[in-house]
Amino acid sequence: STYSFGMIGLGTMGRNLLLNMADHGFSVTGHDKSEKMLALLEEEGKAHNLKGFAKVEDFIDSLQSPRTIILLVPAGKIVDDVIAEITPLLSEGDIIIDSGNSYYTDTTRRSQELKEKGFHFFGMGISGGEEGARFGPSLMPGGEKAAYSVVKDLLEAVSAKVNGEPCVAYIGPGAAGHFVKMTHNGIEYAIMQLLAETYDILKNGLGYNNAQIQQVFEKWNNGRLKSFLMEITKDVFLFKDEKTGNLLVDEIKDQAKSKGTGKWTSQIAMDVEVPLNTIDASVAGRNLSKLKDLRVELEGSFGKAAQIENKEGFEAQLEEAFYFAMVSAYAQGMHLLWKASEEYGYELNLAEIAKIWRGGCIIRAEFLQDIYEAYQKNANLQHLYQDAAIQQKLQTGLKDTRKVIASAVTAGIAVPCYAAAITYFDTLKTGRMPSNLIQAQRDYFGAHTFERIDSEGVFHAEWNKLS
Ligand code: 6PG
Repeated sequence: STYSFGMIGLGTMGRNLLLNMADHGFSVTGHDKSEKMLALLEEEGKAHNLKGFAKVEDFIDSLQSPRTIILLVPAGKIVDDVIAEITPLLSEGDIIIDSGNSYYTDTTRRSQELKEKGFHFFGMGISGGEEGARFGPSLMPGGEKAAYSVVKDLLEAVSAKVNGEPCVAYIGPGAAGHFVKMTHNGIEYAIMQLLAETYDILKNGLGYNNAQIQQVFEKWNNGRLKSFLMEITKDVFLFKDEKTGNLLVDEIKDQAKSKGTGKWTSQIAMDVEVPLNTIDASVAGRNLSKLKDLRVELEGSFGKAAQIENKEGFEAQLEEAFYFAMVSAYAQGMHLLWKASEEYGYELNLAEIAKIWRGGCIIRAEFLQDIYEAYQKNANLQHLYQDAAIQQKLQTGLKDTRKVIASAVTAGIAVPCYAAAITYFDTLKTGRMPSNLIQAQRDYFGAHTFERIDSEGVFHAEWNKLS
């Protein structure tokens, strides 16, 4: 046996990660049933003399013990199929790492099943797309802590680095890694939608052309809003379509697709009762985009949006609003992690998670440094809005944020994430919500009882016997 690590699934992500490992001097090999993928690996991995195996038995035999096998196959049934195929060939103590965007309860189930058979299983979130896999992703491995020492050096070597520090850390037991990656994607959806709403405001609210929009995003990306998503978004507004000569973005259908991780984030947050207004709005936003025919019909009935009325200084105010809404998206994701950590016993280190998201992943951003510092100051912080430094920045931009969102609403420009962000904030800073009325209503029609502000216990009133 000659190789230290093996990869199953040699699509672009798998090949790139394998090449990345080889670059760092690890002896690695791959397995894929597709001859085409094997040929591509051989071609791209010429410098490292990388060969893959078509036969799974040969692949397994080639690995040193304990065998460490990384799966980069599509999430879902295929992961189970691959596990079922390889486990009869493995020995006790071997390690399997599932690096897809697997649903976290699947990961919980698989880790239990594999533990019973004497294997170690990791669910590892990997972010950064194809480039990340090739040159440094952010990695979120969860599973048995004891087995982590076997893969630690490898994962640290291939991960992205920020100030020389690796963007990987042991996340927690069971499905902790996949849960954290899923939450990362929820935040990803919200920031993408916020950028899209900003584009809409600039284009339809202010009447900017693509070149002007590009300049706004470019300017912002040189400041505190600097982030990977801002950076690629500004570049989208430079990319010409060969076919028409127009910018390609103008030739793309306005219907957003998804693979499910954002939706899962919202669904699970509902289960554990953590409000994710901004993230929820971004998931619903993609669903709204799919209703093209209905939207076109209703635009005919109600008319298009108008332009923003007072454009004076609007661009700078919009930057404040973006910052404010961006904070809400990250804060909600972190809040979900805080709650899930308790609920599922993930023992998450939120400072560490913010730290490894600073580089390599899709939501990497200047702001993650602030998040990192907030949790470093207080590891048990329930919510980012409690951090003094973040509070001050929210406070500074609040007036402009309200003005921007109010102007967009007045003009009829749809800003689901911006609106959710301000509503979320205003609700969270409301000491006494009107929810007493909900309790009264519930008790009125269903005798569901209510609690009183002046005494302990549950109460019921005969509401329909109005005096
Ligand atoms: C990443 C991404 C990635 C995800 C895509 C597509 O961190 O590299 O999150 O894992 O698959 O972003 O997601 P949707 O198809 O749901 O938009």
